[in-house]
Amino acid sequence: MDKTQDIINLLEEYNQGHIIDLLNKLEGEKKQELIKQIDNIDFHEIMELYDNTKKEIQIKENKIEAITYFDKEKLAKDKKNKWDKIGEEIIRNGQYAVITMAGGQGTRLGHTGPKGTFKLDVYGKGKYLFEILTENLKEANQRYNTIIPWYIMTSKENNKETIEFLEKNNYFGYDKNNVTIFIQNELPIVNTEGKLLISKDLKIKEASDGNGGTYSSLRASGCLADMKEKGIKWIFVGGVDNVLLKMADTILLGMTKDLGLAISSKSVVKSNPHEKVGVFCKINGHPKIIEYAELPDKIAEEVDSRGELKYGESNIMCHLYTIEAFEKISKETLMYHSAFKKNSYLDENGKEIIPESPNSYKFESFIFDAFELFEDMGILRVKREEEFAPVKNREGADSPKTAKELYEKYWNKVKNN
Ligand code: UTP
Repeated sequence: MDKTQDIINLLEEYNQGHIIDLLNKLEGEKKQELIKQIDNIDFHEIMELYDNTKKEIQIKENKIEAITYFDKEKLAKDKKNKWDKIGEEIIRNGQYAVITMAGGQGTRLGHTGPKGTFKLDVYGKGKYLFEILTENLKEANQRYNTIIPWYIMTSKENNKETIEFLEKNNYFGYDKNNVTIFIQNELPIVNTEGKLLISKDLKIKEASDGNGGTYSSLRASGCLADMKEKGIKWIFVGGVDNVLLKMADTILLGMTKDLGLAISSKSVVKSNPHEKVGVFCKINGHPKIIEYAELPDKIAEEVDSRGELKYGESNIMCHLYTIEAFEKISKETLMYHSAFKKNSYLDENGKEIIPESPNSYKFESFIFDAFELFEDMGILRVKREEEFAPVKNREGADSPKTAKELYEKYWNKVKNN
């Protein structure tokens, strides 16, 4: 039976006549590619997400509470030693793997190419973000006499370039057999009339489905099964753009295991009550990160009996999971958030349109939305100047300039000690 007619019926059902027109114009391989792509799209889901963009967000009646945390700097010596030892054993025994999320678009930084290929101007010569991450992992390998399996998540958009870059740089000396690159899932981009955008290469335009896609993509790619085979019991997930990221922290591991928890995260203290960061809390008894826009001023300013902000533990994207917890999440459907963004597309005459203002919705799930699936999680507060120097914006806060300063200041201090 001719698949084309089924596809046309599907597109008619979901009001995507412009894609039928495109399909009718294509021939041979290009046509088959488009048919295959359409066949893999869940139109019902996409249209539901599009409809949600028109609905007002319902604020549920919520009970918000502060979350308990441990301060790495203030741990009693015996506790610190105990956790350190537990963590060290896990890493030495080869039960620890690291995932770097590198599938983002990095639109704010505006660097052409994957963010990990951005060179930060440090110590004269400069270092690529991937190079900095590799150095961190290599140091841990040396210290714990192991090779930590490293999984890098890319997007369809940046996968080829990422691989070429790492190959060209010989993985910055990391044992290539222990680096696995997997591609995250994508979702179509939809305009304000609910029409899927068409890209320059005559396909439906898709974009990575947010960092929450890490869970399902690790499983779908076979990497989760691979980890199990290797005997991995703990998975750390971090971003590609924090140049002070500690990718093998024995205290975080030891704390999580000792407390019998399945997930944990690191935090830094919010610099002021209105800093635009997400903070950890408990909502209706479950751990959650609440975005700054959702936190009423009065609650954001609340202090505890020691005069510290009650909701002051900000997220720095350093998450740890048992492999069982990761697998459990990978089978759940996380909610999608929509982001109204500028996306170029081909119009009905085949002309590329580059919009000057946002024109379409991109759908993303957030990695931390999974936390509320658990009763509890561990939070380890760390020092900002030692563990958090993100490269997000082109200029100003969290830019290459601030990251360079923090990076050099930290390493100068380490060298002088
Ligand atoms: P951000 O949310 O800061 O996004 O990602 P970004 O893509 O780096 O930058 P903007 O917002 O477009 O300017 C935080 C981390 O999550 C990864 C990013 O690569 C970064 O390490 N990420 C984000 C993914 O791996 N996939 C995604 O779909 C989104």
